[in-house]
Amino acid sequence: MNEIMARARRAMPGGAFTTYVLDDEVDFVVKYGKGSKVYSTDGTEYIDCVNGSGPMLIGHAHPEVVEAMKVAVESPSNYYLLNEKGIELAETLVESIPCAEQIKYGVTGSDATLYAMRLARAFTGRSKILKFEGGFLGGNDYALMSMSPASPFPNFPAARPDSAGIPPVLQDEVLIAPYNDLEAVTQIVAGAAGELAAIIVEAQQRCIDPKPGFLEGLRSLCDANGILLIFDEVVTGYRLAWGGAQERYNVRPDLATYGKVIGGGMPLSAVAGREEIMRLANPRSPADPRKCFTGSTTCGNPVAATAGIATLAVLSRPGTYDRLNEIGDRFRNGAAEIFQRRGVAGQTLGSGPLTQIVLTDVPVIDYRTSVSGDLLMQRKLTTALVRGGVLTHGKFYFSLALSNDDIDRVLSVLDEAVASIF
Ligand SMILES: Cc1ncc(COP(=O)(O)O)c(C=O)c1O
Repeated sequence: MNEIMARARRAMPGGAFTTYVLDDEVDFVVKYGKGSKVYSTDGTEYIDCVNGSGPMLIGHAHPEVVEAMKVAVESPSNYYLLNEKGIELAETLVESIPCAEQIKYGVTGSDATLYAMRLARAFTGRSKILKFEGGFLGGNDYALMSMSPASPFPNFPAARPDSAGIPPVLQDEVLIAPYNDLEAVTQIVAGAAGELAAIIVEAQQRCIDPKPGFLEGLRSLCDANGILLIFDEVVTGYRLAWGGAQERYNVRPDLATYGKVIGGGMPLSAVAGREEIMRLANPRSPADPRKCFTGSTTCGNPVAATAGIATLAVLSRPGTYDRLNEIGDRFRNGAAEIFQRRGVAGQTLGSGPLTQIVLTDVPVIDYRTSVSGDLLMQRKLTTALVRGGVLTHGKFYFSLALSNDDIDRVLSVLDEAVASIF
């Protein structure tokens, strides 16, 4: 371990910023990123398929973002009050998000999902939330239920907390359903009649595609039972299409949550939705039992909003989403060929610039099938890829900065990695 990593371990438990850590043998400290690459403090180059866990969809240090940020950081500050950049970004979000009549800012994706669930409770006057097993909605106490249970409860809808320290009482407030199983959701909704405020779903859960009719079925179920439908678009927003998963799957939720891309790598998130729901977060409204708290010291920060505006401007150009799909497809086709030629039960999930490798030939339709493969080998494969100069955390967040040569290099490292571990 080099000195800087030792310093990290002295200052922080496990020397980690988040929950994700690379295996010790390939761990490194990032010095900087440029375009499709990141560079370690010891000078090693990696093709970046993590991209900050998603925000850097147009690559690192994009020249247009850098130019805009140079101006923004001439007076870097936080005002807590309205500022022009924060308003401009809010307008862009309202124009481009299909379900958005208004937005309110948060700082993290976890804030946005917390606010969306709170607004849904306030609007409906009910308290329970239905989420899907394996769905990741961030780090708040309601989201961290059956996100990645090592031993799931045999029966739905019981929720298993993913962290110590969550008040046990919240387990009764979150109902868990299997993703892609409309019949099971229908039964759970029937059993919780009148108590459910919202169904919250990643429309494409992690990298698992929704079955035809699943999202439409959720929409109808919500409409029939006075439940709000929330799409967590923290990952899918501006990534699967300009209008996110709502555009791609043509289903409109009541509320949607955003993070990652909309801050261009800076901390910024938002909840978006219909005005009659969003109005409950209006601080100017008189005292109202349904009035909701949303907000944080750095909400609408002008420097973060500047990075978001510049990033969305690049993404809004013609051809962006064709190219992002082409990048994803080039990788998925190449990976399928490698697994077939090497006789390995592997497949790639996902669509557009978002992909995950799973080492199983079981069709993956939900959380349990997604973890049915050889997870130890999956971890080894990820480590072998990093060793070969491809930065991934198992999932691949591809960026617009990747060239075809970059993708071909990723595939050749994958080929060698598969050969080395099987
Ligand atoms: C779908 C989804 N929702 C919410 C979050 C939480 O966002 P943040 O990490 O900014 O709190 C994430 C983070 O990866 C996510 O993938």
